[in-house]
Amino acid sequence: MKPMNNRKNEHVSLAEKFAKENRKSDFDSFRFVHHSFPEMKVSDATLSTSFATLDMAFPFYINAITGGSPWTKKVNEKLALIARETGIAMATGSISAALKDPTVKDSFTIVREINPTGKVFANLGTGQTLENAKKAVELIQADALQIHVNSPQEIVMPEGDRDFSNWLTELEKIVHHVSVPVIVKEVGFGMSRETIQQLTSIGVQTIDISGQGGTNFAQIENYRRDSDKYDYLEGWGQSTIISLVEAQPYVNQVEILASGGIRNPLDIIKSLSLGARAVGLSGLFLHMALRDGVETTILEIEAWKKQLASIMTLLGKKSIKDLTQTDVILLGDVKDWCDARHIDASIFANRSSIR
Ligand code: FNR
Repeated sequence: MKPMNNRKNEHVSLAEKFAKENRKSDFDSFRFVHHSFPEMKVSDATLSTSFATLDMAFPFYINAITGGSPWTKKVNEKLALIARETGIAMATGSISAALKDPTVKDSFTIVREINPTGKVFANLGTGQTLENAKKAVELIQADALQIHVNSPQEIVMPEGDRDFSNWLTELEKIVHHVSVPVIVKEVGFGMSRETIQQLTSIGVQTIDISGQGGTNFAQIENYRRDSDKYDYLEGWGQSTIISLVEAQPYVNQVEILASGGIRNPLDIIKSLSLGARAVGLSGLFLHMALRDGVETTILEIEAWKKQLASIMTLLGKKSIKDLTQTDVILLGDVKDWCDARHIDASIFANRSSIR
């Protein structure tokens, strides 16, 4: 079905191979307290949000996935059509492939060609130079630049980086000298409050904590190894819910975005209620686009928009910001994590002003 001759193709194929539906996740250790009087109409719910100086009509987007080969150009074409028709933002995968090999530029520029007025984010890994960051933005006239941090992926990747000594220094230069807002993101390993503190200290304003629970790059890269396997690293990292809990001291200071293992509109609402400005999906949207096709995915996303408004109504909250006033119970491993890290989980359980 898919050519397996290139790392970018392999990432897409293996993400698909390992995609599991209805997987258990830390989102299941998060429960909203149900209150019986919403005191609003579904039509009162507003889905708009903003981050990286951009106004967004919807609080979810297609997160970084791919580009870098003829086959992934076709995948990006589908994703760009979905983004255009639904009006949601979209990130490309890492543009470093096109900086190394100009013959694959079109696998990224297709995203802008198809969606000339949509919100599009470029993507690069940390450790890239400022000059390359500027080139990546220019290539697709990006509205923002995502810079990903992915040390576990690099370690397990057979041909991955082994030198992480300059990441913060290089990142700081990029954050202050590219012409568009920078979003620093993980790739499914989550973030700690210490990481977020380090990012804020170098001036990063928008952070996608991209947690564990969905696409697993330790598993994908481990599968690509012939020997010296790292099976035991497949559980490395913090889940999306735990990362959001870790981010709490910073949610009013910088813009926190969430991604990693989002399965449905309820997971989006849960993430927003822990202070995320918006939520990114990679694995699931990739899966829908490849399995169900563009038309069906568009219909599904339109249904999700309605369902988000319905869930907000159940919670009696008219705006994304108001969702941070919901009452939330954290259970099981998430609660244990909170206890170990001296995070008071009872604060989340008693946030609403209902008397
Ligand atoms: C990714 N992801 C990713 N992230 C990034 O910043 N640059 C990249 O080039 C890629 N490449 C990539 C390829 C494929 C096939 C997938 C599925 C994902 C990571 C992605 O943006 C996200 O952080 C994680 O996948 C977690 O979200 P999901 O997939 O669980 O929704």
